Amino acid sequence: MTYVVQEPCVNCKYGDCAEVCPVECFYQGDDMLYINPEECIDCDACAPVCPVAAIVPDSESTQEWIDKNAGFSFSDDTRVSEKAAVTHGPKWDESLANPD
Ligand code: SF4
Ligand code: F3S
Repeated sequence: MTYVVQEPCVNCKYGDCAEVCPVECFYQGDDMLYINPEECIDCDACAPVCPVAAIVPDSESTQEWIDKNAGFSFSDDTRVSEKAAVTHGPKWDESLANPD
C-alpha cells in the first residue's frame, strides 16, 4: 500500500505533507507534489495535515492518480522534505494554510 496525492494539490502545493513525512518520500513537480510508492511506509502522517485533503491511501484513490504518482520522475533533485522548499501554486490560499 502507499499514499497518493490527488487533484486538490494541483496548483496549490501547501507543502505541509513534505515537512511531516518521516521517510522524505515527497517529490515536487511543476504543479503538484508526488509520493514515491516505493518509499512510502503508510504511516498516515501526511494526510491529516494537508489543508485541502489531497492525500489518501491508495485503497481510496483511483488508478489514474495511483499511476500519476508512481509515474513521476523521482530523483534527489526533486525530493522535498521542508515546507519552505515547496513553491506555492496560483490556487494557494493563505486563509487555508497552516501557520508556519
Ligand atoms: Fe510519507 Fe507517511 Fe505520507 Fe507515506 S503516509 S507519504 S510515509 S507521511
Ligand atoms: Fe499538496 Fe496538500 Fe502537500 S496541497 S503539497 S498534498 S499539503
